[in-house]
Amino acid sequence: MPVGLVTVSYIGSIILFILALGGLSNPETSRRGNAYGITGMTIAVLATVFGPQVDVYVIIIICMLIGGTIGFILALKVQMTQMPELVAILHSLVGMAAVLVGYVNFMDPHAAAQFSGAEKTIHDIEIYIGVLIGAVTFTGSVIAFGKLSGKIGGAPMLLPARHWLNLGLLIAAIWYGIQFVNASDIDSGMLPLMIMTGIAFAFGIHMVMAIGGADMPVVISMLNSYSGWAAAATGFMLSNDLLIVVGALVGSSGAILSYIMCRAMNRNFIAVIAGGFGTESAGTAGLTSDQGEVIAVDTEEVANLLLDAKEIMIIPGYGMAVAQAQHTVYEITKTLRDKGINVRFGIHPVAGRMPGHMNVLLAEAHVPYDIVFEMDEVNEDFPDVDVSVIIGANDIVNPSAQDDPNSPIAGMPVLECWKGKTTIVLKRSMATGYAGIQNPLFFKENTRMYFGDAKESLDAVLKIISA
Ligand code: TAP
Repeated sequence: MPVGLVTVSYIGSIILFILALGGLSNPETSRRGNAYGITGMTIAVLATVFGPQVDVYVIIIICMLIGGTIGFILALKVQMTQMPELVAILHSLVGMAAVLVGYVNFMDPHAAAQFSGAEKTIHDIEIYIGVLIGAVTFTGSVIAFGKLSGKIGGAPMLLPARHWLNLGLLIAAIWYGIQFVNASDIDSGMLPLMIMTGIAFAFGIHMVMAIGGADMPVVISMLNSYSGWAAAATGFMLSNDLLIVVGALVGSSGAILSYIMCRAMNRNFIAVIAGGFGTESAGTAGLTSDQGEVIAVDTEEVANLLLDAKEIMIIPGYGMAVAQAQHTVYEITKTLRDKGINVRFGIHPVAGRMPGHMNVLLAEAHVPYDIVFEMDEVNEDFPDVDVSVIIGANDIVNPSAQDDPNSPIAGMPVLECWKGKTTIVLKRSMATGYAGIQNPLFFKENTRMYFGDAKESLDAVLKIISA
């Protein structure tokens, strides 16, 4: 394929990726956005493989077949609830790719011979930074995968003097960077590069291990951003404009998402990275505090409460995803709205386990977009709500975020459902949510606990209200 055609294809892909980001910003256009993204990526891969830089097709085709098959099987098998883990582990692959490309680029004598003087220094810095970001992204994402899948505990691991340790690692990375750039040949540059890679691996582990469960949403979007910058750095190493632009798109959109997540949780980005959020206080606000009795209700009482209401607010959380209850939720919504009851949805920005988790599930079940609202749009309306239905949510409706300054989630904005007339909470037990803290909402006078798997419980309610 001639260079001109490759360049045109790259520009076409870049435009499609920008259109994809635009489309993905709204549920109504997200399918189109996805289609743009897939088309852009297909063009990008074909233009690269058939471009002038590739001449060994057999290896590439074998690798693409192996990688494509693994990706295809994983995508078919993965449950909606495992999506965040999948995203985290995919970020780790981007990080590892940046590390490997950096090493290969450094060891390739032809690549080294292309540059001299200032150009060589810049190329070395590109390699060093690319490997550094890639290594941090790799181990950070693997630890995030472990935390999200429950293989590693959610509690932050806080080493003594951890900020000093981080500072030490940073200074060491800079010092070895100077050694690396000043190295006269490949052999003498290899040692500083390898030591820095080890430091960056350790830093990635330490950074994410120190971050508490409640801050994981920010970590996911932050690693998303890092994986973008790692790809952009790889683009600089390979002089590939497409990778630079796409990496920058992913990096900056991940950074914006991190900012949105921080705002949603009333957290400061630097404080999240510094880690340790909600450690000491988890015990005091935690599991065992005796907060009184809860009032449990049965299916019939729930159905009656719903049928007697005029204004209903449904607040879905992670448990709705676990139970896969979204289709029944849609049926109940439709049945109640047909009876003239105003049913709306209030979505917390960090409900579930990934950004937009609840919106995706509700869209999948065909819940109309115009009755699904963001937290800020409905939080003032709760005094006029007759019944709030909390489906498998916990932390996002925890009043201690406002009332208890020692709570691990203190300051996080929450949906203030307790200000409504009645709150029905659907969950299986009195177990805590992701942040590992008990919820005083369950013990309030106007709260009714409806225990059981959300799907089974809602199926039973649907049967009564549609009879
Ligand atoms: P959580 O606080 O995790 O609470 C979910 C609740 O669902 C649990 O208390 C659980 O109680 C219940 N549940 C689980 N399976 C169920 C089932 N089959 N049927 C009925 N209930 C079920 O969820 P949330 O309120 O959505 O809050 C999200 C939390 O995750 C926040 O702390 C947030 O910071 C964190 N987080 C969010 C993200 C993103 S980006 N959204 C990423 C990582 C972490 P039982 O076991 O008693 O049923």
